[in-house]
Amino acid sequence: MQPCHLFLFLLLLLPGMWADPEEPQVLQLLHTGVFTISSADISVVILLGDVAILSLDPGNWSIYFYWPWASQATAEGDAEKIMSHFKFFLRNFIQYVHETAQQVQLDYPFVIQIRAGCVLHPNKTSWGFVNVAEGGRDLIAFNMEKQHWEPQQPSPLAELTSYGLTSKKAITVFLVHLLSIFCPSYTLTLYNYGRADLERQEPPLATVFALTPSAAQLLLVCRVTGFYPRSISVVWLRDGQEVPPGPALNTSAILPNADLTYQLRSVLAVVPHDGHSYACRVRHCSLGTHSLLIPWENLSTAPTISIIISVLLLVVTAFAGGICWWKCRKGAESTWETQ
Ligand SMILES: *[C@@H]1O[C@H](CO)[C@@H](O)[C@H](O)[C@H]1NC(C)=O
Ligand SMILES: *[C@@H]1O[C@H](CO)[C@@H](O)[C@H](O)[C@H]1NC(C)=O
Ligand SMILES: *[C@@H]1O[C@H](CO)[C@@H](O)[C@H](O)[C@H]1NC(C)=O
Repeated sequence: MQPCHLFLFLLLLLPGMWADPEEPQVLQLLHTGVFTISSADISVVILLGDVAILSLDPGNWSIYFYWPWASQATAEGDAEKIMSHFKFFLRNFIQYVHETAQQVQLDYPFVIQIRAGCVLHPNKTSWGFVNVAEGGRDLIAFNMEKQHWEPQQPSPLAELTSYGLTSKKAITVFLVHLLSIFCPSYTLTLYNYGRADLERQEPPLATVFALTPSAAQLLLVCRVTGFYPRSISVVWLRDGQEVPPGPALNTSAILPNADLTYQLRSVLAVVPHDGHSYACRVRHCSLGTHSLLIPWENLSTAPTISIIISVLLLVVTAFAGGICWWKCRKGAESTWETQ
């Protein structure tokens, strides 16, 4: 290797030379704790965007990595050190929750949810967040700018926890470090190790079919599935013009498939035989500048006619055949008779 090439090669290995994401990256930890008087069932998952990075085994709190690169990225820098202490954090957290529950006489069982993480923008700025909910309702949130906790509901529990946690300065300093230093740098490391999987693109498959709930209504369904990433555009065209949102148009939410791709369906209600042409148009980053255009073929009358014609032909042929057979037989019989 020539010195110049070696230099370039070394530069590529430096973290500073890593690729910066072109889209905002959201790294978040989702925690759900179900607390009973004697126990706490904790589940934790860390996601980068919609990709699961790691989760905790609820039984023994061991870390499960979803990808080999997630485990490699976590072995770098501060992540390993922080991960090695998480059981200690978790035990303290559970103890704190039980103590607080007893102080405000919260009825067991109850559920505490936490969403914590950061958004890393392409311009390298980042934004940290922590939201805590109890029983499915927002309870407290951490204000990064003011570095204190704020109640999100007027309740003794929200007042007590936000006040109590804000007064613990060591926790606040550690939290600010986690959210504003560790989280963005871990996000960047994960992004660079896992780029091939994080930026993968799967093209959508689209099919169009019709449902007839009643004689006066025709529902055209455009089913789009198997695409990744999530962002997609699906519209109906009537005579080449986009059908605007309205009561006739019903597009589902984007739902996940089991293989980390997504699906949705768009249903357009039309009047049968209205003389218009319809097509479903799909645009997705995996298709580049192309789009999928799936016309709805109004074949419902055509097959009926062709079936009727076929049946008629069959009847005519059979009838003709029958006459012929009868005639031939008659002929044979008459021949037989004459003999
Ligand atoms: C934790 O439990 C899971 C099964 O629930 C098991 O596969 C794993 O090996 C256990 N890990 C440790 C460190 O015991
Ligand atoms: C960085 O980008 C974010 C999101 O686009 C924006 O809100 C923020 O002001 C930008 N910061 C700087 C310093 O440019
Ligand atoms: C849209 O679809 C949903 C689910 O299939 C259904 O519950 C709802 O009534 C539909 N809305 C309209 C306006 O057709």
